[in-house]
Amino acid sequence: MIYSKFLGVGSYVPPRVWTNQDLTSLMDTSDEWIQQRTGIKERHWVDQDSATCTSDLALEASVRALEAANVKKEEIDLIILATLSPDHEFPGTGCFLQSKLDLPGIPALDIRQQCTGFIYGISIADQFLKSKQYKKVLVVGAEVHSKGLDKTTRGRDVTVLFGDGAGAVVMGAEEGAPDEKTSRLINTFLHADGRFAKELWVPEPGLAHPGPRMAPERFDGREYPQMNGKTVFTYATKKMPEVLMESLSAAGKTLEDVDLFIFHQANLRINEMVAKQLRIPEEKVYNTISRFGNTTAATIPLGIDEAVKSGRLKKGMLVASAAFGAGFTWASALYRW
Ligand SMILES: CC(C)(COP(=O)(O)OP(=O)(O)OC[C@H]1O[C@@H](n2cnc3c(N)ncnc32)[C@H](O)[C@@H]1OP(=O)(O)O)[C@@H](O)C(=O)NCCC(=O)NCCS
Repeated sequence: MIYSKFLGVGSYVPPRVWTNQDLTSLMDTSDEWIQQRTGIKERHWVDQDSATCTSDLALEASVRALEAANVKKEEIDLIILATLSPDHEFPGTGCFLQSKLDLPGIPALDIRQQCTGFIYGISIADQFLKSKQYKKVLVVGAEVHSKGLDKTTRGRDVTVLFGDGAGAVVMGAEEGAPDEKTSRLINTFLHADGRFAKELWVPEPGLAHPGPRMAPERFDGREYPQMNGKTVFTYATKKMPEVLMESLSAAGKTLEDVDLFIFHQANLRINEMVAKQLRIPEEKVYNTISRFGNTTAATIPLGIDEAVKSGRLKKGMLVASAAFGAGFTWASALYRW
């Protein structure tokens, strides 16, 4: 049997930290409001005057993941990059990353599944590996949100949530008969419901209206993310437990079998509510949001990397991940580290 496994993980965040207090110099907000509603204390943002973009952060995380996996970049057969903050509208940021890695010729695929992008990415990689088309795949989640946010009081409900960062994994195909303790990706489940597309989106610039795409009258804040926070919260706390249980029951596992839960980091209160509903003990949930905010496609690989580095995630542990985000999209992954 062919199965896939994680060979290594790496992450990167830009050095500059913005505390909640720092944000008060830009907009009417407070450390108390942000911490109480989201659990976020600080986030990393790229230097706003620099040309640093998503593929730069993705490159740093990729190099670290390759090193951790002890895999030479030339061994990579496919790059999958998930982001909602691409370097340019086209071509895909995966192509820019491929060029920065100096790997001409191999396929580079972008996926636009927002907060769920990393799980969609490892699921796609899993199919290519299991079908024997490729032997090693680099999957990256990377975001430079900070340059695309409304940093005035008008945008404060969204802007305080998001941070910049990147996480990457190298996945490889293995042949054999995996047993209970074999390190591998066990399953993934993916979902979307486009009826909710406009509950969290960036309307402009777009082509879904008559007339020129860049008409100035369309840019009255609609070029920044628009979010119905309460609807997002309600559906996230409903869909994340559902999809998590889908992974567990397909694998014949229970919540008690899971050693560590590495969820998407949208809001600490969402993860607390998911854990409470499922009666998951707090110490089994690995959260990083207080330090990084929501780094969208990067939260899960960044969380895995932090958990490995801190010794919280050890070889042989059973890990469950779940994510929810714009689209709406939601997904889960169950893996033996
Ligand atoms: C965004 C979120 C924290 C807002 O919390 P909320 O309790 O729903 O807050 P509301 O939007 O009702 O706003 C309450 C008040 O705080 C104000 N407010 C909003 N953002 C603020 C900020 N950053 N600082 C201070 N006040 C703020 C609002 O203007 C509103 O003021 P008003 O009562 O005078 O009108 C919450 O809805 C949430 O986390 N939703 C999920 C979002 C998410 O996860 N997005 C990522 C998806 S992957």
